[in-house]
Amino acid sequence: MKPTPTDTLARDTGRAYADGVLGHDRSGEYERLRLLERISDPATIRVLDRLPMTRSWHCADIGAGTGSLAHHLAERCPDGQVTATDLDTRYLDAMPRPDNLTVLRQDVTREDFPPASLDLVHVRALLTHLSEPAEVVRRMVSWLKPGGWLVIEDPTYLPAEASPQPEFAALLAACGELLARTQGTDNTWARKIPAAMADAGLTDVAMSAELSVCGRSEVEDAYWRQCFTQATPGLLAHGLMTGRQIQRAIAHFDDPGFADAAWLMVSCWARRR
Ligand SMILES: C[S@@+](CC[C@H](N)C(=O)[O-])C[C@H]1O[C@@H](n2cnc3c(N)ncnc32)[C@H](O)[C@@H]1O
Repeated sequence: MKPTPTDTLARDTGRAYADGVLGHDRSGEYERLRLLERISDPATIRVLDRLPMTRSWHCADIGAGTGSLAHHLAERCPDGQVTATDLDTRYLDAMPRPDNLTVLRQDVTREDFPPASLDLVHVRALLTHLSEPAEVVRRMVSWLKPGGWLVIEDPTYLPAEASPQPEFAALLAACGELLARTQGTDNTWARKIPAAMADAGLTDVAMSAELSVCGRSEVEDAYWRQCFTQATPGLLAHGLMTGRQIQRAIAHFDDPGFADAAWLMVSCWARRR
């Protein structure tokens, strides 16, 4: 299933993401994405369990990262076909995969699947980083067969100033500012997904969310430590924090009594008429 080029969104080449804090060239990015999967896959799978999925569905996982969800879909749809796309497919290419899973290098802001070709499009932790996410949603809807499902998941940071730990609050706020400045990440997007889905003509729009907690689990703490490590050069370069402030904020993870909430991972799903 080859994507067809389109110049609808040619202004967003995805370079800001690839060159930014979360780009695949960053040391530790593979491990960060693996941790993100361990944190987020259970809630995603609970959403997928609500859909009337059959063994023969044709699915796409957009911005598939290190591919756990694409592999999960391939297992659930052994008589169908799953396509895992990413701007940078190095992690997906490196993994053995079943015959019904295809990997495609694709910039979702520029390239399309054939119209009405998919039963399911899933995208997690990507649209929040794009400059025109609602336009991408409209294009994704055109890829769905009538009755097909779109699942969009994106994080939204909780208000940093509500944190009881001032240093940690400052770090969360600075990271949000860094992502907004350097790659246009929009922290308000996740709450706009249901409206974007309805505007794109989808029906049966549903929404849920999962809280990410810092200080209570090894996996989540390892994820957040890695995020802050990757952000540190940018935070310093943009004068958003000093090295000492960053260290003091991260030191909270060593305190057995520390617990704070960082973001909600919002999941929305809806069906094409
Ligand atoms: C934060 S990661 C999320 C990975 C995976 N979806 C997950 O939730 O585990 C975002 C992924 O989207 C990819 N990406 C960024 N911009 C993209 C674009 N314009 N088109 C396709 N993929 C893109 C990145 O390379 C990265 O693998």
